[in-house]
Amino acid sequence: MNTSKQAAEQPSFLPDHNARYLDAKYWDERFQKEEEYEWFKGYKDFANLVTPHLQPSSKILVLGCGNSSLTADLFSDGFQRITSVDLSPAVIERMQKRAAEKGMGCIEWRVADMLDLPFPDGTFDAVIEKGTMDVLFVDNDSPWSPRPEVCTRVHRMLTETHRVLSSDGVFISVTFAQPHFRRPFLQAPQYSWGVDVATFGEGFHYFVYAMRKGTRAETDAAEREAVAAEGAKRVALKESPMHEHMEQDDYLLRMSL
Ligand SMILES: C[S@@+](CC[C@H](N)C(=O)[O-])C[C@H]1O[C@@H](n2cnc3c(N)ncnc32)[C@H](O)[C@@H]1O
Repeated sequence: MNTSKQAAEQPSFLPDHNARYLDAKYWDERFQKEEEYEWFKGYKDFANLVTPHLQPSSKILVLGCGNSSLTADLFSDGFQRITSVDLSPAVIERMQKRAAEKGMGCIEWRVADMLDLPFPDGTFDAVIEKGTMDVLFVDNDSPWSPRPEVCTRVHRMLTETHRVLSSDGVFISVTFAQPHFRRPFLQAPQYSWGVDVATFGEGFHYFVYAMRKGTRAETDAAEREAVAAEGAKRVALKESPMHEHMEQDDYLLRMSL
């Protein structure tokens, strides 16, 4: 998704079929022609939700960097120990050259598949992706019941991300995917992280999921408490005379009972 200004200025790189977003060749051909493209939103729109999870000394891995300015923006914001990877050699070459020209030569750029990362266990303090995990869902028939191939692919990516994170490292995912679709993956029992969700954007909402390894028990307990509190609120509401009145004309309220 880009701005109308970008759309007007750029030739269309839309694939003929969504499944092509899974094809490394599609991305490589696209990046040979396309200079710059920012999926959904730029760093300034969500930096306030991401930077509290980082330290200037954090070793950061950016997954599927594309030709977005996310890596350079993080660097300019004081997070300078960055490795950025993408499946496309064309974009890695382009981004490496651009960073060197901007005096950001210490950023490491590597061609790598996020489903099979070429890094030892525990290498990074933070892994960040924007719109990259979403690509793994493009050939899904329905978000309500993901196909087995989609589930396998997504868990390969999450397992690799979890593996390369340090014992208290954080995975940050910026996406348009809503919590009821994304949580079942992120909260699978094999991951030791808890899932924290924040939103940004006007009209259309985007999400920043932050998952810190080792915090699962803590966030699960907080979630159980929130669910219990919500349940108590609903019981209280059901028993109030006000609710009887509202129940007659508010079907949404009834749905939440
Ligand atoms: C939707 S674009 C997002 C680009 C960038 N993160 C942004 O926010 O503008 C998806 C990016 O992920 C890359 N990609 C797709 N599959 C990948 C994989 N398996 N491993 C690494 N990168 C991948 C593509 O080459 C592309 O650059």
